[in-house]
Amino acid sequence: MFSVTSTRKLMGRRRSVFYQDVINGLRASQKYLFSKYFYDEAGDRLFQQIMASPEYYLTRCEMDIFQHQSGDIAALFEGEPFDLVELGPGDATKSWHLLRELMRRKAPFTYYPIDISSNVIGWLEEKLPVSLPGIQLQGLNGEYLDRMEYVEHISQRRKIVLFMGANIGNMTMQQATLFCRQLHDRMRPGDLLLIGFDLKKDPRIILDAYNDKQGITRAFNLNLLTRINRELGADFDVAQFEHYPIYDPASGACKSYLISRIAQDVRMNDDEVIHFAESEPIYMEISQKYSLGETHYLARQSGFKGVREFYDSKKMFADILWERLP
Ligand code: AVJ
Repeated sequence: MFSVTSTRKLMGRRRSVFYQDVINGLRASQKYLFSKYFYDEAGDRLFQQIMASPEYYLTRCEMDIFQHQSGDIAALFEGEPFDLVELGPGDATKSWHLLRELMRRKAPFTYYPIDISSNVIGWLEEKLPVSLPGIQLQGLNGEYLDRMEYVEHISQRRKIVLFMGANIGNMTMQQATLFCRQLHDRMRPGDLLLIGFDLKKDPRIILDAYNDKQGITRAFNLNLLTRINRELGADFDVAQFEHYPIYDPASGACKSYLISRIAQDVRMNDDEVIHFAESEPIYMEISQKYSLGETHYLARQSGFKGVREFYDSKKMFADILWERLP
């Protein structure tokens, strides 16, 4: 017989980081889950549907920028051979325009897309060499900073980092400052960073983007519970959770919660029971919106200087190019 502690230790070693993150989040007094876990195969598909929905303006705005200004952006990348590292490319439909422009100019670069979804990386490695013949490409599945360290190891070339799609919005401003400092530490003076920021605007437009009429965003959030059921042996009844997005126009924080409709217990792998009170929330995601002033402040706080700002025609979204300072 194992003693309780040794069983725990054995189990602990077998448990995935995903399991630990979920248990920590659901045991916390304010329950939370990490939004990076949205992106399993079904989650990737739902996110593609969100991007195509009428309410989700972000993708169309950034697409507008890359369709019309990729030439101007590519011109700023001219010079020594470089590694083009993209953090969270998804299906890369926006960066594709920039990649095509760089290929057209015969820019000497290798493209390193880094994504948390192995599904996404497999897909890019299969599709991009077909639509962009001759592209030098190495997909990397994993966490941003960890994979970036690997790129640093295998190549000494200058780095241009793309962090588009308002992916930075999944961090609070404080987390974003820390993250940009960590990027800074993994880059060299003169290296470039292009960040896509969703800008503060009419709060109703923002809230609608996270509360689409077809219920895709709702399904996207609930899908994480389904993933936890399947991969971690939980028994969430998704019908007993309600999608609740909010937007605070002062702070620019758009947050989504799942609210437990009833008092209920959820079992995880037969050895953990998580209790939910009626109306208790699980904090699922932040999608932080920025003013231009706030983006400038973030650059200063994290050791970058602004080079240029690119906007869509309605000025709803900005892709901002920063240079890493010494
Ligand atoms: C992929 C983080 C940019 O926050 O707008 C879309 C994810 N969540 N709808 C965003 C998302 C709900 C998206 N990002």
